[in-house]
Amino acid sequence: MSNYHIKNLEEYFDVYRKSVNDPELFWEEIAEEHFVWRKKWDKVLNWDFKKPEIKWFEGAKLNITENCIDRHLTANGDKTAILFEPNDPKEPAQHISYNELSERVNQFANVLKSKGVKKGDRVCIYLPMIPELAISLLACARIGAIHSVVFAGFSSTALATRINDSDCKLVVTSDGSFRGAKSIDLKGIVDEALISCPSIQSVLVVKRTKSNIEMKEGRDEWLQPLLENASKICPVEIMDAEDPLFILYTSGSTGQPKGMVHTTGGYMVYSAFTFKNVFQYRNDDVYWCTADIGWITGHSYIVYGPLANGATTVMFEGVPSYPDYGRFWEIVEKHKVSQFYTAPTAIRALAKENLDYVTKYDLSSLKVLGTVGEPINEEAWHWYNDNVGGKKSPIVDTWWQTETGGIMISPLPGITATKPTYATLPLPGIQPALIGDNGEELKGNQVEGKLCVKFPWPSIARTIWGNHDRYRETYFSAYADMYFTGDGALRDEVGYYRITGRVDDVIIVSGHNLGTAPIEDAINEHPAVSESAIVGFPHDIKGSALYGYITLKETGEDRDQDNLRKEINQIITEHIGPIAKLDKMQFTAGLPKTRSGKIMRRILRKVACNEIENLGDISTLLNPEVVEVIINERL
Ligand code: PRX
Repeated sequence: MSNYHIKNLEEYFDVYRKSVNDPELFWEEIAEEHFVWRKKWDKVLNWDFKKPEIKWFEGAKLNITENCIDRHLTANGDKTAILFEPNDPKEPAQHISYNELSERVNQFANVLKSKGVKKGDRVCIYLPMIPELAISLLACARIGAIHSVVFAGFSSTALATRINDSDCKLVVTSDGSFRGAKSIDLKGIVDEALISCPSIQSVLVVKRTKSNIEMKEGRDEWLQPLLENASKICPVEIMDAEDPLFILYTSGSTGQPKGMVHTTGGYMVYSAFTFKNVFQYRNDDVYWCTADIGWITGHSYIVYGPLANGATTVMFEGVPSYPDYGRFWEIVEKHKVSQFYTAPTAIRALAKENLDYVTKYDLSSLKVLGTVGEPINEEAWHWYNDNVGGKKSPIVDTWWQTETGGIMISPLPGITATKPTYATLPLPGIQPALIGDNGEELKGNQVEGKLCVKFPWPSIARTIWGNHDRYRETYFSAYADMYFTGDGALRDEVGYYRITGRVDDVIIVSGHNLGTAPIEDAINEHPAVSESAIVGFPHDIKGSALYGYITLKETGEDRDQDNLRKEINQIITEHIGPIAKLDKMQFTAGLPKTRSGKIMRRILRKVACNEIENLGDISTLLNPEVVEVIINERL
């Protein structure tokens, strides 16, 4: 009997010890007992962080959709797999059973095949949160195509960059999407992107908003009629454990996003194992993660983790504020949700509204609450705990990343005592380390440093698509033989971890991971702009918001600043998407720079946060005089 489902603290410590003492045996037992393999592995783990090369379950053969769908059909075919709740509460919810999911995935997979999509081909998915989104991921996985989901809030330029980076062959999109009272012309965005995407041969379009769109002859086709004519049977493609399952882009320190590559076997084992334990999922529970499948949270904890456990997973198309701020809680009551997983930014936004929006609903079905994506502040934690959980549902503050594929540090609900703002303890198999300023590992408790991981876990991303050097540079070069997360953290007196935030040029805005470089690149395209630097500053709802310091060319100096601000945010929206718009823009004669010409963001960050007392030594700057001007004119 393996320790797939941990039930108490003693067992957690026991399992953790085992997972560290003999990781291969630990994961082998879990993989063997809880998943369907067409062939067992020759070796559990092969790794070298120097290269870096990480392989789990090498030699094994499987298809993840057999694990997420087929194996549940005999005993649980009628159980709801996906519970779809539309944007408009007047539209009925859809209960998609495992049987129906199987048929729809197979039909979709057959349509992809008919379009010439084969094992290893990349398929870009640009869809709203409708069932076809989850189904398209699974359809790709069924035939061995690599899916690359692009969040449907990204602009046409961002979409094109991602399509071209991995040479996608086909795009799945919809006519439009509903977001609260608005609808968005997704197909128009795709059309614009595809002007510069030569690799795309076909576009499959889901009808959702019934808006008027253009269909390009020979390239675009409505999906529904194709599905209706497709067979409901599609044999699985047998995959190697280390065959890529998907690419998911995340921001980095250059303008080019990083296409993180996740492979099949290890990702499946880890996402399923962590889902079961972190949410303590039981058979009749209804589980709801409010994230978008466009992010890793949706991949691992709406689709793969829950379905591999035969769970019922809710997909919500809408937003928390439509038709009013009670929408989340109305859905919890309506579907008797047991586990509810969301982002701190959503909690902060809802906590600002009248408490009646929460109290008028019966939330007694809730057993576990979760947060992800950014640090949760103490106030929001208590509001969530008191008003949503009624002080009886433990909060799991889960720390992880697109790169890690699954939750790394988190309480186990009802098992680990929670502590507001702390992600608490590492999950089995995870060996965190804190590194000090001189690159030394900080041992013992009550220390703070840079968060690294010393040993591979099954769902670590294996590479960056097309750029293994960048993978090595970004994650394995800062400290020898360790994976560097880019986050800072502290370990308290009992060994609990608290994530203190990014230590690199990534800023988390409303839970979205944004690199400063692509935003600066976009701003610098404005004809009046000479250069720019973006930093984060604390924001009530978003957690962090963006503050831009912008120097203008001589020709731009007479321009009206309000107009410039609008134009600059418009450029950002076009290049990246509205999520990356700046909250504050300060026009300045210069940016503080080192003698080698590097922008001193540390100073800019402090000014944006109004921490001007302790700026450190600025005398070595190339242009120290500019700092005073920046301070005096700060917003
Ligand atoms: O800085 C950490 C923050 O989000 C980053 C990862 O972002 P992304 O790859 O978009 O994945 C988000 C969903 C897993 C991390 O490096 N982060 C994530 N979870 C937490 C967090 N910061 C504090 N507490 C968390 N629970």
